[in-house]
Amino acid sequence: MNRVKASAPGKVHLIGEHSVVYGEPAIIAAVGRRVTVEASRAQYNQVIDRAMDREEKFSVKEALGIADRLDRLWKEGDKKGDFSEMFKLFKENYLKAVVGKILQVLDTGGGVHLKVTSDLKPGAGMGSSAAFAVAAVRAISEVYGIELSLEKVNDIAYQLEKFAHGKPSGGDNAACCFGGLIWFKKGEPPVIKSLRDEVPYRLEGFVLVYTGKPEKTTGELVQHVKNLKADFRNSRVKILGDSTRDMLEVLEAKDMDEVAKLMNVAQKNLKELGVSTDRIDNISEKVRDIGGAAKLCGAGGGGIMLCWHRDSEKLIKTLKDMGEKPMEADLGVPGVRIENKTGSE
Ligand code: PMV
Repeated sequence: MNRVKASAPGKVHLIGEHSVVYGEPAIIAAVGRRVTVEASRAQYNQVIDRAMDREEKFSVKEALGIADRLDRLWKEGDKKGDFSEMFKLFKENYLKAVVGKILQVLDTGGGVHLKVTSDLKPGAGMGSSAAFAVAAVRAISEVYGIELSLEKVNDIAYQLEKFAHGKPSGGDNAACCFGGLIWFKKGEPPVIKSLRDEVPYRLEGFVLVYTGKPEKTTGELVQHVKNLKADFRNSRVKILGDSTRDMLEVLEAKDMDEVAKLMNVAQKNLKELGVSTDRIDNISEKVRDIGGAAKLCGAGGGGIMLCWHRDSEKLIKTLKDMGEKPMEADLGVPGVRIENKTGSE
């Protein structure tokens, strides 16, 4: 193909964040906002990233060199239990690293031109880096006529997530790649199960609200929860775990009122764990007052909130009246896909 456009959705935690750290399950949803990558073959790589407003040109050799160095640094980091050197190199060479790793694994022999656009908010816990990785793997493999299973696309994206996070759970890239809802449980290996059979439909009428850049990192917020008194923490973790199991049941029954109730239970317990903010509390209270549901997503401390009301117009009006900027998005949307392709093989 001369030119291929692929897209992948972002993700949000429907329920189970934080408690997942203590071995409880979580449900991660592909969300109806996507990263799109348009690829064509080229000898010299060029990436025009409209999402981040940056543009870079670099040789295939340079990109492969970065990927090899990152592979080495990951192994060293794993031994030392400290990935900081790898994180630094990855951050400084992000686009080269993504392209380099994909060219390396696919053994393309040549380079690519990529155009990237996104309707995800970067750094908001929406899996924008995982979605970019997944879409880029799919677009580049297609443009080189290399057939890849979804599992293989997911696996390459996971290798990129390892450069970004050291030892990530793999839940984000799975949601962005396979789409729908993902049942996730930590472990060696983790459980990453698509809920395509249990929940074969899209969850409509959800609204996202960005509540600002979190002041603390995910690691710091996880640590905050760890530092709480064990009894206090464990009782909330148990409620969150039970709510996640119940969530699967009510989703199977397509009972949205119960889904909403469980979202509110999750928010209450996440607040008690100390990962909410005044702005999030305020929004969740107002949305509950009109009979809806609202919860923080992911680590918390700001970031994206997930809201739902049977009457989404009413929900959107309530949020706008508060000065927020609601974004409509379905959950459980399709995973990575080819949007279009032009030219011959
Ligand atoms: O904020 P995110 O999207 O990185 O999600 C973090 C979710 C936690 O449960 C808080 C941590 C984790 O590793 O699962």
